[in-house]
Amino acid sequence: MLVTGANRGIGFEFVKSFAADGWRVHACARNVEKAKQVRALDGDVVCHKLDVTNGLKVASLARELAGEGIDILINNAGLRGPKTGFGETDYDAWADVLKVNTLAPLRMVERFVGLIEQSERKLVVNISSIMGSIADNSSGGEYIYRSSKAALNMVTKSLADDLAGRGVTVVCFHPGWVKTDMGGEGAAITPSESVGDMRQVIDGLTADHSGKFFNYDGRPLQW
Ligand SMILES: NC(=O)c1ccc[n+]([C@@H]2O[C@H](COP(=O)([O-])OP(=O)(O)OC[C@H]3O[C@@H](n4cnc5c(N)ncnc54)[C@H](OP(=O)(O)O)[C@@H]3O)[C@@H](O)[C@H]2O)c1
Repeated sequence: MLVTGANRGIGFEFVKSFAADGWRVHACARNVEKAKQVRALDGDVVCHKLDVTNGLKVASLARELAGEGIDILINNAGLRGPKTGFGETDYDAWADVLKVNTLAPLRMVERFVGLIEQSERKLVVNISSIMGSIADNSSGGEYIYRSSKAALNMVTKSLADDLAGRGVTVVCFHPGWVKTDMGGEGAAITPSESVGDMRQVIDGLTADHSGKFFNYDGRPLQW
């Protein structure tokens, strides 16, 4: 399995959890020096330097791993961007957030789909957010992050349709409000609670779930 943004937060917790269960984990981080805690983990963990916005590096990692099945691709790397309100939008920052949160997950799947197809589970998990749910938006604002995750949700649905014939299941999750650098200390749950629950849902996913948006505890969410 392969996780992006694996050096801290929810991504690191996924690596720790799958490695503890004996999985071979490809842990991708844009700054390998910052991934000390990943390298310190026991188990079959391989660290790769990967900035998910670098298309050449994504393609070269897919070539490097050719021949190896990737059972689960977790597109976890994410950016919050500035939380500016109406009239204050930083358009350059918005483009940067879209590159990480929306464009990169699709590019990862486009480059890795051959390896995913070779595997048994054939699963893509996109880490989205309830902030990307149009149905849940009752307070406005947060144009940058909200739009990046709403677009990721749309990418998830189209991928699910496009890859159904190839046996690949694609879902997205809201991981909960999680105590990470992004979620902050006051968040509701720990990375271990979030990932523990998501792993139980992931274990039970079948092709029938493809194209769905789940809360971390398995509750279906509205787009
Ligand atoms: N925490 C929450 O409450 C919450 C709620 C809803 C959704 N989410 C989503 O959950 C995911 C993980 O969030 P988190 O809370 O663990 O955030 P985090 O602690 O801020 O970690 C973000 C991770 O993404 C990586 N990243 C950012 N840009 C990257 C790039 N260009 N290439 C490769 N990696 C990159 C970061 O790497 P660096 O260390 O190099 O910066 C870091 O490893 C994100 O997609 C986020 O939107 C989180």
